[in-house]
Amino acid sequence: MPNSVEIRKELSAARACTDRIVSLFKPETLYERPIPERHRVIFYVGHLEAFDWNQICRWTLGRASFHPTFDALFEAGIDPEVGSARDDTPEEWPSIEAVQRYNVKAREAVDRALDEVPETILRMAIEHRWMHAETTAYLLHHASHSGKVSLSVPPCPECPAPRHTLIDIPDGVVTLGREDGFGWDNEFGAHHVDVPAFAISKYKVTNEQYLHFVNEGGPVPPFWVRRGDRWYLRAMFEDIVLPPHWPVYVSLKDARAYAQWAGCSLPTEAQFHRAAYGVPAGEERAYPWGNQGPNGVHGNFHFRSWDPVPVTANPQSDSAFGVSQLVGNGWEWTSTPFHPFEGFQSYPTYPGYSARFFDDDHFIVKGAAPATAACLLRRSFRNWFRQGYPHAHAGFRCVRPV
Ligand code: AVJ
Ligand code: FE
Repeated sequence: MPNSVEIRKELSAARACTDRIVSLFKPETLYERPIPERHRVIFYVGHLEAFDWNQICRWTLGRASFHPTFDALFEAGIDPEVGSARDDTPEEWPSIEAVQRYNVKAREAVDRALDEVPETILRMAIEHRWMHAETTAYLLHHASHSGKVSLSVPPCPECPAPRHTLIDIPDGVVTLGREDGFGWDNEFGAHHVDVPAFAISKYKVTNEQYLHFVNEGGPVPPFWVRRGDRWYLRAMFEDIVLPPHWPVYVSLKDARAYAQWAGCSLPTEAQFHRAAYGVPAGEERAYPWGNQGPNGVHGNFHFRSWDPVPVTANPQSDSAFGVSQLVGNGWEWTSTPFHPFEGFQSYPTYPGYSARFFDDDHFIVKGAAPATAACLLRRSFRNWFRQGYPHAHAGFRCVRPV
């Protein structure tokens, strides 16, 4: 059955976004490794097209390869333990011209094959590309400012200072997972979880709050820079004086350390769902703000901004219980290790998407970051990182028993 005009447009939009982000790396930066535990940028330039070509043309349609070495070289990324870096050299990677030639051919082949594959395969290609739009955005963030094309960023909106409070969430039942529609392997198997009452911070933990912990010896967040006697934040295109009311981005280990210091804990995946999608009475919501899709909704996601905004921005999008920014402005760590739901089955063309990571060192992150695409904001989407991974746009909030 031919795939719709709509899904072709979605693929084009995702390609336009990743093409643009790649264009913001200066040529010399393509051979650098802005994040020690990830590949050099050039890998991602090839990976985006190799993934689509491998999934769609080779593994679904059984087409013969036109470049077996690149198909394999760019097939899958790496996720080693935090602190261990590869020792490959830039010279080991093919030239950008060779990668671009491969990309053009792969894209043309994919375009000719679009009507021959099931929609699910195209959805995987589109969402995989959007996930890498985010990965390449935070790789860009970690690249030196002089190594990227500098954009002028509009000033951050004025927002009131937060009044940090805990919100009581009454006990209730949440639905994790989904039964039908498109989802990744780890989303399937809808089931209910009872969540006892708890209290959760209205706002994400801010730089200002975390600074008290640093002043008492807590670990310094990855994007903070000390100059003289002041803290700066490494924003996407320049270093700025540390914005007190932006969410802090840290690893799960540092989030846990903060929580222990502050006398609280981190939410479980089910508690996040209860705070985000629960209502005092009746059916859970599809999004924190209601059942309307994200397109017309206020929030810092889908590349509306390169950087965070204050935690008090977009109060229109609070959850039913009045908790702010549960989706957007930074992923949120949970205390839940990444495990499959009952009945887990991987996709035949992509057996490793989740299954490689069920190792108790990867934990669920929920919500969304500024560079997370709208299609990934669905309730059942589960993201994950290693607990020590400090490089992503992920923060946290605190919970306490009531
Ligand atoms: C789901 C975001 C953890 O980036 O490692 C991209 C997504 N998997 N290519 C990652 C992914 C393969 C994945 N995360
Ligand atoms: Fe990938």
